[in-house]
Amino acid sequence: MRLALLGDVHFFELRMAPRRLLSKRAMGHANLVLNRRKKFAHERLPALLEHLRAQKPDRLLMSGDVTTSSLEAEFARVRTALATLDDAEHAIQTVLVPGNHDAYTFRSHRTSRMRTLLADVVPPSFPHNEPLGDRWELLALDSAVPNRIFSRGRLGAEQFAATRTVIERKRAGEGLVILCHYPCVVPRGTPSGWSHDLKEAAELRELLQASPAEIVFVHGHVHKPWFIGGPRGLRPGVRILNCGSPCMLGPRYPAGQGYWTMDLPADPTRPLNATHHVPQAGGGFASTEHAATPGRP
Ligand SMILES: [Fe+2]
Repeated sequence: MRLALLGDVHFFELRMAPRRLLSKRAMGHANLVLNRRKKFAHERLPALLEHLRAQKPDRLLMSGDVTTSSLEAEFARVRTALATLDDAEHAIQTVLVPGNHDAYTFRSHRTSRMRTLLADVVPPSFPHNEPLGDRWELLALDSAVPNRIFSRGRLGAEQFAATRTVIERKRAGEGLVILCHYPCVVPRGTPSGWSHDLKEAAELRELLQASPAEIVFVHGHVHKPWFIGGPRGLRPGVRILNCGSPCMLGPRYPAGQGYWTMDLPADPTRPLNATHHVPQAGGGFASTEHAATPGRP
């Protein structure tokens, strides 16, 4: 079972009625988009998706924030991009969970805009479970809620209770891949805070720590790729993979942060590696396979 893991794409559109251009909110939105324009090279996405398709993954897991302001036009761009992944020989089953930018406004959230416009890839309800081969299971979570000022995530009592049930029924020798926009833990030194974190992060960490199963927690939100085993005192069987932001440019990743693939071993207790596919400034990709970096306390 080969997974492809893709993070915060953040498509954006600057579209608004002229009469709204002077409103404070509209100016905030314009600022956000103009800033993003410098940092995100979306013109590189088609080549990245072509490369991803060539890896022939069985599933594509997307950790959310595919848009910037939850606009219909942004979701339409996602649909167009994902359509290029399917060909006659190989259709990639995709599961996309919402990020906070995909539930950016109360209206978009209330009207389930993302679920309606991307019905093929966003599960109809959360938590969403499906088997990934014989001994692995996927648990996909919706951690995104609209928020006027902050970008704090929340699963809510009902979803968290169902999540607890799934994690607690996992036995030794079984594997669980959790897909959630927000991380439940970040490496020491990563900026985080109340307004940016997941409300239930500490409770989630406790469940993962107590479980005897092999865990891969796949997330986005923090635009920085990493693959760590047992961060911040968690057991090594809890691996955290941050997809990063595929098209975001910066000093460390001048052509974008790329995406990941991971081959789930039939026996979940066997070694588990991930391959990071990073676009190169001169074209092409550098693909590096590695085990999870041991986490620092
Ligand atoms: Fe986010």
